[in-house]
Amino acid sequence: MAFESRGVFALADLCPHPVVQAPMAGGASCPELAAAVSRAGGLGFLAAGYKTPEAMYREIQRLRGLTDRPFGVNVFMPQGQGVDPAALEAYREQLAGEAAWYDTPLGDTDASSDDAYDGKLAILANDPVPVVSFTFGCPTRTVCEAFAKVGTRTIVTVTSPAEALAAERAGADAVCVQGIEAGGHQGTHRDDPHADGTSAGLGLLSLLTEVRETVRLPIIAAGGLMRGSQIAAVLAAGASAAQLGTAFLVCPESGADPLHKQAMTDPMFPRTELTRAFSGRPARGLVNRFLREHGPYAPAAYPQVHHLTAGLRKAAARSGDPQGMALWAGQGHRLARELPAHHLVELLVSEVEAARQAVRSGSGALS
Ligand SMILES: Cc1cc2nc3c(=O)[nH]c(=O)nc-3n(C[C@H](O)[C@H](O)[C@H](O)COP(=O)(O)O)c2cc1C
Repeated sequence: MAFESRGVFALADLCPHPVVQAPMAGGASCPELAAAVSRAGGLGFLAAGYKTPEAMYREIQRLRGLTDRPFGVNVFMPQGQGVDPAALEAYREQLAGEAAWYDTPLGDTDASSDDAYDGKLAILANDPVPVVSFTFGCPTRTVCEAFAKVGTRTIVTVTSPAEALAAERAGADAVCVQGIEAGGHQGTHRDDPHADGTSAGLGLLSLLTEVRETVRLPIIAAGGLMRGSQIAAVLAAGASAAQLGTAFLVCPESGADPLHKQAMTDPMFPRTELTRAFSGRPARGLVNRFLREHGPYAPAAYPQVHHLTAGLRKAAARSGDPQGMALWAGQGHRLARELPAHHLVELLVSEVEAARQAVRSGSGALS
C-alpha cells in the first residue's frame, strides 16, 4: 500500500506503510517499540520529552542497535508562558492531601521549563536522525533549515489551521494534525485558557480538512485512530499517513506501566477527558479519581504542575493505584488490541486495504 505524496517530500521515502507510531513521553515509546514498528514498515518514534539530552541519545543509540530502518525523535518546544504564582500556590495547597496519602512530597515547581531543548537540538544536529518532530510550539526557520541541511525531515504538531500556517512558514517538511480525540497532551502551540475557541478543539476529520485547505504540506493525522478503516478514512480525506499512540501503548514492547495498559480496556475507566490536573496543560486521559477531583481547578501552569505531581504519580504507580496515575488515552481506547507491534502494523495495513476494497465494491457501510 503506497503513500500518497503531497508537498515537498514524500513520506513514502521513509517507510512503506502510512502508519506512524506516536512518540509517547513517559516511557511507552521505548526503543524496542519504535524498532518493532519501523521493522514492520511503519515509522517508529522515540519521545525525548522529560529526558535529559544524554538519556535521549542513549535511546537513539539503542534503537540504532535494534534496526537500521528510519525512525523519528520527538522534542518538546520550550515553554515561555508566564504562570500565575498564586494559582500555582493554591494548587499546591489543594494537593497537600494527596502528598499525605501517598506519603510523598510535592515536586519543585522552579525546575526548568525548556526541557533541555538546546542540548537536544545540538545532539540531533551533530548526529542526525531521519525525522525530528516538535510539539507544544513551532521551531524557528533557522532550526528547520539546519535540520534540512543535515538531511533530517521536520514535522510540527498542529491543532489549528493557524498553527499549520506557522509550521509552513517556518519551513517544516510536514505537519502532524492532532484532533481533539488524541490521547496525551494537545500539542497546541500556546496554551491559552482564555482563548476564544476559534477552531481549537476540533475533531480530527474537520481539522484535517481545514488544514488541508490551508497549507500545502504533507499531513500526518492523529487522534482516536485504532483501526485500519479509520486510517483509510483519514487517507481519503487527504492525510499522507496516520499517527497512532493509544493503539501502540498496549503492545507488549511498549514501556508503559502495566497498570496503564490494563486500564485502557478496563470497564472501570469507560471514558476520557481533557485535563490540566497532572501537568498544567490540557491532556486527554482516562477519567480516574485524581482527574475527577483535581481537574476542575487545576491551573494553566505547564510544566510547573507536571513537576509538582511527578512524585505523586510515581508513588501511585508504585503502590498499584491507577486512580492516582496519569492514564493518558485517546477516545478510542476501548478498541485497544494487545498485539505485538509488528502484528498490529500488519493488521492495520490489511484493514486499510479491506476498507478501500469495501468502498470500491460499494459494500462499505452496509456490510
Ligand atoms: C501516553 C501518551 C504520551 C504521549 N506523549 C507525546 C509526546 O511525548 N510527544 C508528542 O508529540 N505527542 C505525544 N502524545 C500524543 C501523540 O503524539 C498522538 O497525538 C496521540 O497519541 C494520538 O491519539 P491516539 O492516542 O488516540 O492515537 C502522547 C500520547 C499518549 C497516549
